[in-house]
Amino acid sequence: MKIVSIANQKGGVGKSTTVINMAAALVKRGKSVLCIDFDPQGHLSTFMGWEGDTPTTGDLMQSMANSGRLSEDQLSMAICHHEEGMDYIAANVTLAAADIYLVTTMYREQVLQRVLSQLPTGQYDYILIDCPPSLGLLLTNALVVSSEVIIPVQAQMAALMGLEMLQQAIENVANVTGGQLRINGILPTMVDHTRQSSAVCEALRSDYPDLTYKTEISRLIEAADSTATGHSCLALRRSVIGSQYTAMVDEFLNREGK
Ligand SMILES: Nc1ncnc2c1ncn2[C@@H]1O[C@H](COP(=O)(O)OP(=O)(O)OP(=O)(O)O)[C@@H](O)[C@H]1O
Ligand SMILES: [Mg+2]
Repeated sequence: MKIVSIANQKGGVGKSTTVINMAAALVKRGKSVLCIDFDPQGHLSTFMGWEGDTPTTGDLMQSMANSGRLSEDQLSMAICHHEEGMDYIAANVTLAAADIYLVTTMYREQVLQRVLSQLPTGQYDYILIDCPPSLGLLLTNALVVSSEVIIPVQAQMAALMGLEMLQQAIENVANVTGGQLRINGILPTMVDHTRQSSAVCEALRSDYPDLTYKTEISRLIEAADSTATGHSCLALRRSVIGSQYTAMVDEFLNREGK
C-alpha cells in the first residue's frame, strides 16, 4: 500500500481535481484506490458527489485525538464507494477544528497515521490524500503518513513562489520520520497557450528537470464540468483532460517501477 499526498499550500492549483482524476485513472489500470479528503473545505467530497451522511475525516481525527482509538465500525462506515471504482473518505468543515485541538494532542503529527493504521493491510494499492492549501498541522499529518508527494503547480504567474517553502516542509518531515518521504513529482496544471503559462512550464523543467512530469494538464472547462456532476474527466467521452490524467498516471506508475 502506497500513500501519496497531493499537496501545495497555494490554493486553487488543481489538487482536488488531480486526486479524483488520478484515482479514476489508477482504477482503470486495475489498482484499488482510497482517496482521503483532508481539507476542511471538502471540495473533493463535493467532486465525488458525497451525500453528507457518513463519518468524515474530521470525525475520525477527533475520535483518535480524544480517545486514542476509533469507535467500532467508524472507519468502515466512513468509507464511501464511488461508481467509477475508487473509495473515499469525505471531509467537511468539522476538520477545521483539528488545527486547534491537535495542538494539545499527544503525538499530534501522527493522528492521521494512527487512523489509517486501522485499515486492513492490503485493502488498497494506493491511498491519495487531498491536502488543504496551508502549511499547518493537517499538512504535517498527511506528510507523516505518506511516502510520496505530488505537487500540482498552476502554470500562472507566481506559481513558483512558495515551492521552496513546501519543499522545506517536506524535508523537515522526512528528517524526523527517517527519510522515507520524497517528492514524486511536480505536475504542471491549467496549462494554456499564453506566454506566461509556457514560461512557468519552462522554468519548472529547467529548475526541476527530473521531478517535473512530462505530462501537462491543460486548462479546459471540462475539468470543472465533470466534477460539478460528481465525476472524473475519465467518465466523459473523448475527454482531453481524462487522457492527460491517464498519461500522468502511466508516468506515475513508470516512475514507481524504477
Ligand atoms: N485543468 C483545469 N482546467 C480548468 N479548470 C480547472 C482545472 N483543474 C482544476 N480546475 C478548476 O479550478 C478550480 C480549483 O481546482 P481544485 O479545486 O482542484 O484546486 P485545489 O488546489 O484543490 O484548490 P484548494 O486549494 O482550494 O483546495 C476548480 O474550480 C476546478 O474545477
Ligand atoms: Mg482542494
